[in-house]
Amino acid sequence: MRQVTVTEHVLLHQTKSPAASGKFTTLLYDLILSAKMIARSVNKAGLLDILGATGETNVQGEQVQKLDEYANRTLIHRMERTGVLCAMASEENADIIKVPERFKRGEYILIFDPLDGSSNIDVNINVGTIFSILKRTSPNDEDVTLADILQSGTEQVAAGYFLYGPSTMLVYTSGEGVHGFTLDPTVGEFLLSHPDIRIPERGKVYSVNESYYHYWDEPTRKIIEYFKSKDNERGAPYSLRYVGSLVADFHRNLLNGGIFMYPVDHRIPHKPQGKLRLMCEASPLAFVAEQAGGAATDGKRRILEIKPGELHERVPLFIGSAKDVEHVAKMYEEAG
Ligand code: AHG
Ligand code: MN
Ligand code: MN
Ligand code: MN
Repeated sequence: MRQVTVTEHVLLHQTKSPAASGKFTTLLYDLILSAKMIARSVNKAGLLDILGATGETNVQGEQVQKLDEYANRTLIHRMERTGVLCAMASEENADIIKVPERFKRGEYILIFDPLDGSSNIDVNINVGTIFSILKRTSPNDEDVTLADILQSGTEQVAAGYFLYGPSTMLVYTSGEGVHGFTLDPTVGEFLLSHPDIRIPERGKVYSVNESYYHYWDEPTRKIIEYFKSKDNERGAPYSLRYVGSLVADFHRNLLNGGIFMYPVDHRIPHKPQGKLRLMCEASPLAFVAEQAGGAATDGKRRILEIKPGELHERVPLFIGSAKDVEHVAKMYEEAG
């Protein structure tokens, strides 16, 4: 395949979306540089003092892994200098991160999960970085506030993820399809490897942590039973594939077809809306899924239409092949 770089691809193919501006290319360049630094540490994690936990607990109530912290610090340091952002928000930070006045700022906002799948770092299983790009809603000369960030997913200018695995990939959309790039470490460039990704309308795989079965409500149990039965619309049971890294499970289902589910479970009373975060996980991946012909719902609402009430809002997530996601929504609707 002819070598097409990300910059060339954005300039050539993203002509209509607001992303076509040079500022977006600058943003993507610094995002890619951050990802290369994270990839380098992920690839050598066993040799650096970067495995294990920091001993701190984050705003999510999770044990912070050293690589969570490293990825978060790398992204914030690099992206506050990119000159086109006014603010950021991270899974790891309780509040929004305003770009300091000493740096050149712009109208874009970056929201990210710096390292997704932290529990897999120490056992060398795929992890990733998820990002979402918005434009501020208030005038540039005003102070940026949380109101600029709490926008529904349909307002995203672009979204995507980096996947650190056997190869390091970038998958993104800016509203004109979904495109995958693979890092060629010998030249340090992400080169187009998966142009115009389309997700099969029905998959052969379902991804869910079945150990929560006893914590789900009855309609959810029926939905999981549907994918395990041979009397479903596919006429055969779906295979269960669950890695424990949302980005890895999502990426496999995006390419091969399938549905990823993280329903509400009643294990942990203070997480009545499930575990996954709307702004830095569900919303960006929903944009990618829909742009590839798939779908994403919280069981009752289209993920992209959910207006966040708070920065770290959690949502139940059913995302992937359109027909599989539609079936979930229909079963929840019938359950009332
Ligand atoms: P993060 O590492 O960013 O906190 O996200 C972890 C998420 C997601 O990647 C994965 O699908 C899910 O947690 C796994 O949760 P369970 O261990 O409860 O299945
Ligand atoms: Mn986490
Ligand atoms: Mn995550
Ligand atoms: Mn994370």
